[in-house]
Amino acid sequence: MEKIEWNDDLSIGDELIDEQHKALIKRLNDVARAMEEQQGEREITRTLEFLSDYTCFHFAAEEKQMELAGYPGLEIQKRNHSEFLKTLKNLENDFYEEGATRPLAESINTFLFNWLTKHIKGLDREFAVFLSDITEGNRG
Ligand SMILES: [Fe+2]
Repeated sequence: MEKIEWNDDLSIGDELIDEQHKALIKRLNDVARAMEEQQGEREITRTLEFLSDYTCFHFAAEEKQMELAGYPGLEIQKRNHSEFLKTLKNLENDFYEEGATRPLAESINTFLFNWLTKHIKGLDREFAVFLSDITEGNRG
């Protein structure tokens, strides 16, 4: 199964957010690997819990940072974040109902990886541009 590796393409230029995105990608890869290798139910559950805990933590941190910066795109980000959480929740429920089936492992790839890369390169990068603009504005 395809995995996302961190690369500069995914960097938005904000160190804290970049570090959190790396950690998020790692957890996502852990889930994908656990499913792919058909690890035990307990192990897969553990990786899923790690992923959803970290996702909540990261989204909250990002939204807080946007709020503090007075970012006008906050609402769109929040909506987008909650869509991801909903998708993740659905995948978790599928896992609890049916186990680590092949289609489920594939949807992780399709929905979560694709969503995340698109989100980082799109909305998160827009925020980083906004942040660097206001920082430069303060300097000038
Ligand atoms: Fe985001």
